[in-house]
Amino acid sequence: MQSLIKNQRLQERMVSEETAASWIKDGMTLGLSGFTRAGDAKAVPSAFVDKAKKDNMKVNVFTGASLGSDIDRLMAEAGIIHKRLPFQADGVMRKKINEGDMYFIDQHLSHTAEMVRNDVLHPIDFAIVEAVSITEEGYIIPSTSVGNSSVFVEKAEAVIVELNLAQPQAFEGLHDIYEVNKQGKRQPIPLINVDDRIGSVGIPVDTAKIKGIVVTNQADSPSPITPPDEETAMMANHLIDFLKKENELGRLPNNLAPLQSGIGTVANAVFHGLLDSDFTDLEVYSEVLQDAVFDLLDAGKVRFASGCSITLSESKLKEVFSNLDRYRDQLVLRPQEISNHPEVIRRLGLISINTALEADIYGNVNSTHVQGTKVMNGIGGSGDFARNARLAIFVTKSIAKNGDISSIVPFVSHVDHTEHDVDVLVTEHGYADLRGLAPKERVPLIIEHCAHPIYRDQLYAYFNEACERGGQTPHIMEKALSWHTNFSENKTMRERALQRS
Ligand code: COA
Repeated sequence: MQSLIKNQRLQERMVSEETAASWIKDGMTLGLSGFTRAGDAKAVPSAFVDKAKKDNMKVNVFTGASLGSDIDRLMAEAGIIHKRLPFQADGVMRKKINEGDMYFIDQHLSHTAEMVRNDVLHPIDFAIVEAVSITEEGYIIPSTSVGNSSVFVEKAEAVIVELNLAQPQAFEGLHDIYEVNKQGKRQPIPLINVDDRIGSVGIPVDTAKIKGIVVTNQADSPSPITPPDEETAMMANHLIDFLKKENELGRLPNNLAPLQSGIGTVANAVFHGLLDSDFTDLEVYSEVLQDAVFDLLDAGKVRFASGCSITLSESKLKEVFSNLDRYRDQLVLRPQEISNHPEVIRRLGLISINTALEADIYGNVNSTHVQGTKVMNGIGGSGDFARNARLAIFVTKSIAKNGDISSIVPFVSHVDHTEHDVDVLVTEHGYADLRGLAPKERVPLIIEHCAHPIYRDQLYAYFNEACERGGQTPHIMEKALSWHTNFSENKTMRERALQRS
């Protein structure tokens, strides 16, 4: 333990998770470490759920992104959350949010830190962060994610550290913690290349604020393995064809541009597709580093990967964590404020690949709300990247629910990414490069290349009728959401005549 907590006085602050949880009172706000199942505080939140259930307490919970170890599910089931931000991806929590049992703020992931720093949100009572050690100089060395932990530690009234013995000590040295400072007093972020190190190895902390240290021994929850299916493989092929064409036209070099991708099947399929491509010396500047990034590193295709968390499947986790030294010069983990920072994203000129639930014939994208009302997960970092990337690419399957839903609709039922922020749309049928096209020029491209053939005539019928009314972006306002209404009433977006055929 002495090697993990070098400061003698801190060693005396070791407590059980139950004791730490007993400090949390009704109405408090917690800032938890954790980003997409990685590096989340595990023991204290679990102990707190048990206590809060008995004592009928509610708290606000802020994190980096979604949590692992079923913490979001347990908190939602116990009904102990008043407000949650900025992202979640748990089925039970989704249901509770949509049933109105708790509040959820769906926030751009780069925005949370600014709001906490500027005292816009509830003040944070406890920052509870997972670490692999605390250095003599007073740096908390995070584990598999950085997320919002540094700003939570800076602004919280008190800090609880979960020292997780199950996380490799070799993580020390892989982080780069940069503090942007207050707005108005800030310098440009000196990050010019993906592999630049601009900060400290750990989170600086006033050790007097550390109220307790809880020793834990629990691995991160593994991410589910999502092998490419036929459609995602086709989407990946279309996307790689597009990148090849950009390369042939001299608009992208052989090593492309730093890549960002969301999590999930398509992202994995695209990254696996790059394994067989001629592109080399690739760079990744993303949030979550998944299995495929390590496959690309192993294959010598990726030169360097910068992220804010490492989320792996069970088998990959064992392989990577027992060989962390192999990746030491090729990896860095940053706060999500930096991994998702508009200034850096624009400077590096990222190729950003994220997923849509639905897109409309003009290129607006809905990534978060089913039928315009029920939240799925959240916008995550997709908006940070799409607005600022060199190439904002959105992928989606052309249909959902066995074809009863078209993912290409006349008008999206909720807008996360406006037509101004979407450069390329990709489905299993092809891609539509929307750059430089006026709204009416986009429509045939999206219908022909992205929509499923069973919906193409129906989309053209809407567009042609809308064009009769004129306008820069023609719409029939009373019919713009009729496809969604049709689905609510008849469980399909297909028109009656088409349903019968
Ligand atoms: N309307 C209603 N439901 C739809 C739909 C639509 N247009 N399109 C897809 N769905 C349903 C699917 O049927 C599936 O339902 P199921 O879970 O009951 O099977 C579910 O949505 C997920 O769709 P899937 O095709 O499996 O895609 P996915 O797992 O890749 O998830 C998003 C897609 C959009 C929900 C997910 O990528 C997301 O949350 N994105 C927003 C955040 C983000 O981009 N993060 C990356 C940067 S941080």
